[in-house]
Amino acid sequence: MTTVLRTRAELAATLAPLPGSLAVVMTMGALHSGHEALLRTAREQADFVLATIFVNPLQFGPNEDFDRYPRTLDADLEVCRAAGVQYVFAPSREELYPDGEPMVRVDPGSLGEELEGASRPGFFDGVLTVVLKLLNLLRPDVAVFGEKDYQQLTLIRRMVRDLELDVEIVGVPTVREPDGLALSSRNRYLSAEERLSALRLSAALRAGATAAGAGRGADGALAAAYRAFGEGTTGAKLDYLVLTDPQLGPAPVTGPARMLAAAWVGGTRLIDNLPVELAPAARTTEE
Ligand code: PAF
Repeated sequence: MTTVLRTRAELAATLAPLPGSLAVVMTMGALHSGHEALLRTAREQADFVLATIFVNPLQFGPNEDFDRYPRTLDADLEVCRAAGVQYVFAPSREELYPDGEPMVRVDPGSLGEELEGASRPGFFDGVLTVVLKLLNLLRPDVAVFGEKDYQQLTLIRRMVRDLELDVEIVGVPTVREPDGLALSSRNRYLSAEERLSALRLSAALRAGATAAGAGRGADGALAAAYRAFGEGTTGAKLDYLVLTDPQLGPAPVTGPARMLAAAWVGGTRLIDNLPVELAPAARTTEE
């Protein structure tokens, strides 16, 4: 059975006597199979699972899709029930922000201004502020987040370390459609034609990962990814395509790395990323 909690009072009354460990999965609803993977992982991590469903206004810019963001609570509760989630916390905006928008917020530092943060100013302040607030209200043992939002996951891990928060953060690999498209609540904005263009994003990352694994170095990997994206030949427009180390610092020469990309497909902005292994340069016959 899934119990839906709407208020802090209901939350406190439920969580205080909880006879076991708690894992949380924070979401903005519009749940899909990617969220189901997070919920499954949460079940493996703790005795009780609580999912939050809250479309957080703080993380949307003035021209972004806050108003049209899909709100599908009944279907989301079905997903939670089927996944064996015991509790859902779905507060109203007034319940979570009783004094209006918070005056004091979490500053994500310089990483918060790069990549997603460069295109979406204030986005990570909004994300980290609501994540910290929810961690404080829920006091979970474990919080599970998807690698699809890799920069978000990296900043949440960093916040937990820098601010000495007593919670374990678990990341879950991205779930994809059979053709490679990363699952996202925003995929439902795409027309059939746009969906085809959106495939360029995962195709670019795969090409980059293959080139990296073949010893073509960071430059070779990025060049392969750009080629596979095929800017100008599809309806998708790249916002960024980068290769970094796993913590989003400068890319190493060899070893584990991450390739991240964002693109506009029509009016929809999509992001994706892949782990990449930069193999040592392949020896040529002249050497
Ligand atoms: O990843 C999301 O859905 C949101 O950014 C989160 C973590 C629920 C905060 O609103």
